[in-house]
Amino acid sequence: MGAIEILIIANGGEIQGGLASVDPVALARRYAIGNWESAIGNAFCLGLCYFSAVDTQKPPKKRIAVIAGDGIGQEVIPQALKVIRASGADVEMSEFDWGADRYLRNGMTAPPDGFAMLGRDFDAILAGAFGDPRVKSNIHAKEILLGMRFKMDLYANVRPVRLLDAGLCPLKGVEPKDVDFVVIRENTEGVYTDAGGVFKQGTADEIAIQEDINTRQGVERIVRYAFEYCEQHTKRDGSPRARVLMCDKSNAMTHAGGLWQHVFKEVSGEHPQIEAQHMYVDALCMQMVRDPRGFDVIVTNNMFGDIISDLAAGLQGGLGMAASGNIHPGRTSMFEPVHGSAPPIAGKNVANPLGAILTAAMMLGHLGMTGEAEKIEAAVLEAVRQRKSTQDIGGTLGTREAGEWVAEKVGK
Ligand code: NAD
Ligand code: IPM
Ligand code: MN
Repeated sequence: MGAIEILIIANGGEIQGGLASVDPVALARRYAIGNWESAIGNAFCLGLCYFSAVDTQKPPKKRIAVIAGDGIGQEVIPQALKVIRASGADVEMSEFDWGADRYLRNGMTAPPDGFAMLGRDFDAILAGAFGDPRVKSNIHAKEILLGMRFKMDLYANVRPVRLLDAGLCPLKGVEPKDVDFVVIRENTEGVYTDAGGVFKQGTADEIAIQEDINTRQGVERIVRYAFEYCEQHTKRDGSPRARVLMCDKSNAMTHAGGLWQHVFKEVSGEHPQIEAQHMYVDALCMQMVRDPRGFDVIVTNNMFGDIISDLAAGLQGGLGMAASGNIHPGRTSMFEPVHGSAPPIAGKNVANPLGAILTAAMMLGHLGMTGEAEKIEAAVLEAVRQRKSTQDIGGTLGTREAGEWVAEKVGK
């Protein structure tokens, strides 16, 4: 008798409850004691039996944790939720009040078991923005936002850059077909690890050290992610992606840059059909505003990715239009608009909700609901074309009204 059969007898309840999301090989690996081939074979049969038993049932609803956060996060996320509901997506959404208000009330940033709970109980997280002038240290934003990225090991920050309408681009003569690239930002290392310290603080001799941590494993997995993304994702017009560009500052930051350089060379060698390119980050910034046509997939470290993704947001109509996903393949991932909490415009019903709505579409696509995601993207495109939008992109609507317009379009 193989390991899997023993498990069925001993622990049938667990299998019944958990198998739908478990693939047979993973199951075999988890429970195999002796013979691998028979364990995999048994797991495979078990998978087939289970799926034939449940194939008349609907797949379980996807569970989404929603954390609107601070400032305009509180305004744009409700619009994204409205649109998700209008799309008919079969999801169950639970809202969490993590953010500045709660921190100021009880000193709690994220609960002690918060990240484990998100990973265990949810299929995805939709977040707004974190940052509030009342919390000078920004500690809550750091612990919640960077907490999710680091503690859940969401190593790939995927930030698509798509121009929906020529009128939104500040560059002359640039059309939607010219701007369709993606920034893939390493999300768990670099200068964001908070390694370092301050010595002789407050004296004339004060020393501040901020370390830039780059590990072989961390660099390799993000570079691989970029090549695989390039292989697996087409552009919006259906044409294949063809190039991965690695961006660094290896002429000055030679230690970290050297690691990125040789890992990129090695991994690109495994993908000979994809063109591998390199640019220093300063030159890339210049090229991005001079002529963004050549960009396809850009992979870079945490800080350069942060900076160039805001610059790239400028090409698509500003921060109000930019979506992102913080992804670890196979694990609960987190989706958030690229923008922050924008305190000066918060509470005024003027923030653009389209970045948050496109983020919701990205999340649904990631969860396999591609029909719903496409419906939302098409409605956003229509809102932009018809100027049924907020003032930052040439419309006259408020945050709520723009969200309602998209929701109505999606629901038709
Ligand atoms: P920001 O993104 O909040 O704002 C930058 C500029 O873009 C402002 O002029 C703002 O009015 C505008 N803007 C941003 N989103 C917009 C939208 N949806 N519609 C219209 N205009 C929009 O960046 P900031 O001002 O540097 O930071 C404000 C706070 O947000 C800080 O506390 C910062 O740390 C935090 N922040 C958080 C995140 C996040 O949670 N992911 C991201 C960036 C900044
Ligand atoms: C972003 C933000 C964050 C970052 C801040 C708020 C820490 O700018 O998501 O781009 O730098 O990653
Ligand atoms: Mn940023």
